[in-house]
Formats: sequence, structure tokens, C-alpha cells
Amino acid sequence: MEKVNPIRIEIFDTTLRDGEQSPGASMNTQEKLQMALQLEKLGVDTIEAGFPIASKQEFEAVSKIATAVKKSRVAALARALEGDIECAARALESAEKPTLHTFIASSEIHMEYKLRMTPKEVLERARKAVKLAKKLIPRVEFSAEDATRSKWDFLVELVKVAIEEGADVINLPDTVGYVTPSEIRDMFAFVIDKVQPPEGVIFSCHNHNDLGLAVANALSALEGGARQIECTVNGIGERAGNTSLEEIVMILHTRQDIYPYTCRVVTTEIMPSSNLLSKLTGLKVPYNKPIVGRNAFAHESGIHQHGVIANSKTYEIITPELIGNVRSTLVLGKHSGRAGLAKKCEELGFNLDREELDKLYDKFMNLAEKKKEVYDDDLLLLIVSLRQEEFETYHLEQVRTAGHDPHTALVKLRRGEETFVDTAIGDGPVDAACKAIERITGILGQIEQFDIRATTPGKDAVGEATIVVNFYGKKVTGNGSSTDIVESAVKAYLNAVNKYIAIREAYETVSAK
Ligand code: KIV
Ligand code: ZN
Repeated sequence: MEKVNPIRIEIFDTTLRDGEQSPGASMNTQEKLQMALQLEKLGVDTIEAGFPIASKQEFEAVSKIATAVKKSRVAALARALEGDIECAARALESAEKPTLHTFIASSEIHMEYKLRMTPKEVLERARKAVKLAKKLIPRVEFSAEDATRSKWDFLVELVKVAIEEGADVINLPDTVGYVTPSEIRDMFAFVIDKVQPPEGVIFSCHNHNDLGLAVANALSALEGGARQIECTVNGIGERAGNTSLEEIVMILHTRQDIYPYTCRVVTTEIMPSSNLLSKLTGLKVPYNKPIVGRNAFAHESGIHQHGVIANSKTYEIITPELIGNVRSTLVLGKHSGRAGLAKKCEELGFNLDREELDKLYDKFMNLAEKKKEVYDDDLLLLIVSLRQEEFETYHLEQVRTAGHDPHTALVKLRRGEETFVDTAIGDGPVDAACKAIERITGILGQIEQFDIRATTPGKDAVGEATIVVNFYGKKVTGNGSSTDIVESAVKAYLNAVNKYIAIREAYETVSAK
């Protein structure tokens, strides 16, 4: 068979924007910046950093990412409104390669009930939006929200308007995860054929996973002529999530015979990206998740194990090494020194300065006293918690629990130079400690989800807790880790309180404007 040269497609990562819209997945500015730098290493073409008009915190995160990221493009989202577009352009001011992403809905149901606009008004609004965006930022992406439930003839009209005003990328999202593979292929082929885009304008797909078809639909969109895929690490995103970056990239890598497309993603950075995101957000990766799940390379049955030992290709279509799933030979313990710790951090992709390394070393020694071997995942949790501490309002100094029916807890928190101590009783040690935190902070929260997992093997494993807390209607995820599971739960709860305080302050600043 004749070998065809693969077509280069662009990967537009929206982990920090659509991904962050996953219930409870909020990250602070520092965490977003850390993730953005990892995405740059991963080699994505565009990083959608956020929606700057949403809050002061969001604006700040986009602008910091715009300053720090050099190789990937940095995109900011804006509705087709003057204020949104000007705000997004300001947030992108320091970006080396900025993209302004503006959108308006195009389906009848959205136009009539959400926008309360006629199709003619939508066309005009889109025209003005793209024109303004293009005046402010050299590269503009235009999205027709809910494109897959829109009339195709109307999409053609709308896309022509956006291109006339200078849009460089046209995105046709499956906003509600409704389309099927053959439909999306035909939709792209139809619109592209009718529009006849000029050289340099590319079409993009952005699929949600409500029916579990996001990845399949992205592949079909390529067949219909799309040349950019919007996706997220671990497939996180609004509701059931978005196209999963690692799945789409590894399909293209593994099945070149069927899908003759390539992208710039460095596959060995997939696992580090997945790990970092799940540590930062507390959103755990399901064990059976393709590519990055804990069981993705685990062979349980004897027949499979025998086959893999004889020749790994019998049951493995991808090697763990290819996606950066490597167990390092350097295992740390209480006799490890600073140099070994620094080397391990480097291996994990973190270059710590002297001060950070000193702080981490103290934490590490503390942990190594409690458990024999400190694994990569343990260390990742320590680094993430160290960086979170820089931004926390309250720091947990001590938690002690006692008794049974009722349980009592004593909690000591530090806020700047001040120390607060309080006690409370509750249904179990975690409940009692959270009540003591409520008494100190004055912030009331309802725990809606609570999950604890052992990060690494062994009886002395670190327990990684994730808690979703509802504070006055706002859901926030917190995470915390410790060899003591009560302490990890309390840390997770306090982490959520700290995030809530940051969010509340950001909203207060915006509404005071
Ligand atoms: O799902 C969607 O339609 C979106 C747009 C803003 C691109 O996220
Ligand atoms: Zn979306």
C-alpha cells in the first residue's frame, strides 16, 4: 500500500477553561500556571487559559499564563460582547502568541430562549465581535455554540461572516454532546464545501462527552475536514467532559494506518500531565480510564501475563514508556539527602529553588519518618501541597481527635501571625474537626462528596482525600494527604475552605468595580 504523508493537526487544549468548568475542579492562579507550563511541555499548540471577564482571579490567571508561556499559543475566551472581548484582549497583552476566542450560539433553541435574538441579529453580533477581536488581537477563533444542533445553512452564513471579518479558526462545537460520528463528519464536510475557506483558515471541533462519543466524533470531524481538535487532559470538562487529549493523541499515534494525521504532542509528557492535573484538582482518574488509568497497563489473568512476558505485543498495543508511565529506579527514603530529592523533583518535572527545596525537604523527612519508601506519587502530593500553602489563608497546625459517640476534635489553625484553637463534637472524627474549623473561620460548608484513596502500595501508604464542599451554593473541591487518614480529610476540607475564601474575595473585587 502506498504510504501517505500524514496531515498535521493542531491540538487546542482547554483543560484550564472548559476543563475547569467540571463541577468542583477549580484551581487557583498558581495551580493554573503550573498546569499551563506542563501543557507547554506536553507540546499542545494552543492553551485556552480561561474566561477573563468571569472574575478578577480568572483575569489574573490568564494574564500570568500569557506572560509565562512562550512556545504554545495562549487563548482567552469571550462572549460576542464588546466588554468581554476588550477584557480578554487586555488579559492577553503580554502573550507572545495570543488567540482571542469569541463565541455566540447558533442553534434555534439557544437563539430563541437563551439569547432572545433573531438569526439576523446573531449574524450582526458575530460580525461586530470578530471585527473588534481582530482589531485587538492578530489571531481570532470564532465558535458557533451548539453548532451540531444548528441548521447547516445558517452555520454556513455565520461562518462566512466570521471569515469575512478575519477569523482564522472556525470552531463548530458539539456543546451538548448530541451528535454522532457520521453526522459530525457530514456537517464539517458540508460547511467547508459551501464556505470554501481561504488558505490559512482552519476548522476546529470541540466535542462534549454526554453520550460517550467525544473522541469518536473528533476522529470523524477530521475526516470531514477539521484540522484542530479541542480537548482536555483526562477528558475533564463541563458535565461528562470533553474529548480526552491522551486518547485522541494515542489513537492518532497508534492507528496511523487508518488516521493519517500527526500532531506535536510529546507523548512521554502525557502521564506527568495527567498526574499533575489530578493532584491539583483532586479529580481522580478512574482506574479503567484508557491510556492514563491505573489499570490501563495491568494484566491480571495468567494467560495475559504469560503472553506479555513472552512478548509484550501479545496484549499491549502501547508501551507504558511511550506515555511517560515509568517507574523510576530512584526510590527515596529517610536516608536520602537533598541532592537525591532535588534530582527526583527534576525527574518529575519540577525545578525547585533553594528555599522551596528546603521546605520540601522538611516535609519529605517528616513523611520518610512515617513510611519506609517515598514514591513518586507521594512526592508529587508533597510538592502540590507545598505550593498550595503559599496561597492559603488558614494553615493546619494541628488536629487531635478523641472519644467515641460523640467524637471530639481539637483544631489549631494559623492565619498569618495569628493562631486559633477551637474544639467541637461531631458524628465521627472528621465531622468534629470540620465543625471546629467552621467555628474558627465562620464559614459553613456541607460535605457533598468524600473520597479517600491510598496513593501508593503498603500499609504505611499516604491517604489522598478529596472532598467536595458546598459553601452557600458554591461547590469547591479540596484535597489533602497524610499517612493519617483523618488528617488527610481535615486537610482536604481546609483546602476547600481556603479556595472558597479566594473565590469569594475575587467576586467581591469584581462586584465592587
Ligand atoms: O461547548 C462549547 O460550545 C464551548 C464553547 C464556548 C466553545 O465550550
Ligand atoms: Zn465546551
